[in-house]
Amino acid sequence: ETTDITTLLLSRIRDVADYPEPGVMFKDITPLLADPAAFTALTDAFAEIAERTGATKVVGLEARGFILGAPVAVRAGLGFIPVRKAGKLPGATLGQAYDLEYGSAEIEVHAEDLAAGDRVLIVDDVLATGGTAEASIQLIHRAGAQVAGVAVLMELGFLAGRPRLEAALGGAPLESL
Ligand code: PRP
Repeated sequence: ETTDITTLLLSRIRDVADYPEPGVMFKDITPLLADPAAFTALTDAFAEIAERTGATKVVGLEARGFILGAPVAVRAGLGFIPVRKAGKLPGATLGQAYDLEYGSAEIEVHAEDLAAGDRVLIVDDVLATGGTAEASIQLIHRAGAQVAGVAVLMELGFLAGRPRLEAALGGAPLESL
């Protein structure tokens, strides 16, 4: 069964060479989103992770983590919380800066959306360097909540995001489909 879903999902991810810049192989998930069987299988697999890890909320990381995370929250019967790039949320926020290859970025969450006692499943499409997910874990911890786990569709193993995240996760699972 695991092999079947992996084959289905892989068949709906398109490799685009030299996008968004030369030398980068972009993983385009739009064929997967357009296929209801594949999108449903992915949503169900993520929802099973949410249930198994005892998550009480789903966090999606802008922008593709919104598309993947929102139906997981609905399917699992949990609230959805967007973690956004800085400057996009209107209320009181917590922010976390993180380093990029050149420069830095910052993500934010509405402070009122997370509280002590929450167990958060973080959902995104790709784990690359792990910088975005690591900053999200830090945000959730600073809000006083726990991280139930991180669930991603794809993990780019050559970028070593996993060891970086495992240090931040402290035993909570990192699941890549
Ligand atoms: C991509 C991807 C992840 C992140 C992974 O998002 O969807 O969120 O990068 O990279 P990392 O592990 O090195 O942090 P992107 O920054 O392109 O944002 P977008 O979806 O809004 O375009």
